[in-house]
Amino acid sequence: MTSAEAKSENAATSLITAVMLLSVGYAILRYHIAGPVPWKDFSFFILNKGICLGAFILLTLNFAFGPLNNLGVTVPPGWLNARKAMGMSGFLLVLIHVLMSLMLFNPAIYGKFFEPNGSLTLLAGLSMLAGVLAFVVLWGYNLSFQTHLREDKAFIQFITSRKFLLVAMTLGGAHLFFMGYKGWLNPSGWHGGLPPVSLVAFVFFATGYAVNVLGRK
Ligand code: HEM
Repeated sequence: MTSAEAKSENAATSLITAVMLLSVGYAILRYHIAGPVPWKDFSFFILNKGICLGAFILLTLNFAFGPLNNLGVTVPPGWLNARKAMGMSGFLLVLIHVLMSLMLFNPAIYGKFFEPNGSLTLLAGLSMLAGVLAFVVLWGYNLSFQTHLREDKAFIQFITSRKFLLVAMTLGGAHLFFMGYKGWLNPSGWHGGLPPVSLVAFVFFATGYAVNVLGRK
């Protein structure tokens, strides 16, 4: 492949399509086919799970491709060139997740997040705080490439630094950990033996975090 060909190659469409099909497919398999959730809940409750899983995977891959390359794993040029589109799609999908979650957020749907008196449990409060902070950090990250801030080299160096990305990823990981760890520790309760969406996402988080610690300069 010539260097001009490598520069123009971009696998964004196929990567984003594959990640979203697998994520929504996994949510359908776990909650509708292996689990008890009725199909009428697909269009909002279950699709939200598929969307946030896909978003989480796209963002983790976006942050991990560069460091993986530094570690000597050959990441195809088309995948490296796909990072911008993956980051932007991941952010917009998270925005959809936030809007959907806020509409669904009540004790009838998320019983485990609420005390009997209707207030949030400690774990739900911590999970939602981390989710809101992760969302705002991600928003700031995307904004900095779309505005005049991108000309500020020191700022871009900071926002793409190892420290900043590790903090951003940790907020996403904390959102998942506090909401899910009790269920992760009870595999006998997993529908069809399939791990919860939050645990699948957490495995991507932990792997992406390790790759960034080791491979990001
Ligand atoms: C304002 C910010 C946010 C709010 C209010 C929020 C709300 C929620 C809620 C209510 C759930 C439970 C969904 C369910 O079990 O059906 C959830 C799960 C999840 N969220 Fe968020 N979230 C926010 C930000 C984020 C961000 C920034 C990310 C990714 C970077 C994210 C990724 C996920 C993932 C992967 C799950 C696991 C889904 C599951 O286990 O079912 N969320 N979020």
